[in-house]
Amino acid sequence: MEIKKVAVIGSGAMGSGIAYVCAARNYEVSIVEVNKKLLAKGIKRIREMIVEGVNRGKLTPREAEETLKRVKGTTSITEAAKDADIIIEAVYEDINVKKEVFQKLDETCPNHTILASNTSALSITELASATKRPNKIIGLHFFNPPYAMKLVEVVLGAQTSEETRRIADDFARALGKETVTVKDSPGFIVNRLVLPMLNEAAYLVYEGKTSIENVDKAATLGMNFPAGPFRLADFVGLDIALAVLENLHQAFGEKFKPCPLLVEKVKAGHLGLKTRKGFYDY
Ligand SMILES: NC(=O)c1ccc[n+]([C@@H]2O[C@H](COP(=O)([O-])OP(=O)(O)OC[C@H]3O[C@@H](n4cnc5c(N)ncnc54)[C@H](O)[C@@H]3O)[C@@H](O)[C@H]2O)c1
Repeated sequence: MEIKKVAVIGSGAMGSGIAYVCAARNYEVSIVEVNKKLLAKGIKRIREMIVEGVNRGKLTPREAEETLKRVKGTTSITEAAKDADIIIEAVYEDINVKKEVFQKLDETCPNHTILASNTSALSITELASATKRPNKIIGLHFFNPPYAMKLVEVVLGAQTSEETRRIADDFARALGKETVTVKDSPGFIVNRLVLPMLNEAAYLVYEGKTSIENVDKAATLGMNFPAGPFRLADFVGLDIALAVLENLHQAFGEKFKPCPLLVEKVKAGHLGLKTRKGFYDY
């Protein structure tokens, strides 16, 4: 099956970024939001990425114009799903919200359509259970920001078929990404590695052993990381980091118990860069 049309559900940080990457690689893209206001915000974000693409020399002005033309915004999931070959879901990291979206997509899109989730840690097998096509459900986990980050984790649910894996993997590569395949399991590869580090960083500060700045300085200068764990968490969003950690805690036990420092930040609505306040002020 050749993928020509893509639908992206959710035009937040990830959905708009994924839609941009697809459109820049010549795919027709429909992007769906819950209301017109949020949709306009998502489309504005895509426009900004296109302008940035021109500024970085990745797109010519003509390519920029064509890229924008390939993106259609809608608030109707049915409209976007009706002729899509692959759909990438990027709504809130909430299993019930995602299951509802998958059920609706399953009912409205053609039989051949592959349904992918950009979830950071939720179970692909469980999402598949909301549909009658579990063999066509897969995880395509992009990283933030999708235009800059090279990796896509390809996550196999218990019933994902080899054909679905191959088509989804080829699609991710056609977007210019490198892929790694992993069986469905909380945190997949990257988040299972990175979240315990953030949690330990938070405990170091919570226990009064050192400061946020010192932890980030140690990670960047002592381990050559491009950003320390606190700066990275602010960038990802502390709500998302906590949701993934809670998932890992549930699956693997006490060693992943979220640090109260992180829990308190989320309760206070200090979610990082997107709220201009997290571990740092912006
Ligand atoms: N932020 C990251 O760094 C990152 C990285 C990788 C994966 N993810 C995952 O990507 C997904 C989205 O994350 P985000 O950071 O873009 O979140 P976000 O909150 O920025 O965006 C989510 C968007 O989905 C929309 N939405 C919710 N329900 C919807 C529905 N039924 N139909 C259409 N739109 C709907 C919301 O209105 C919102 O605009 C999550 O599953 C998250 O775990 C996030």
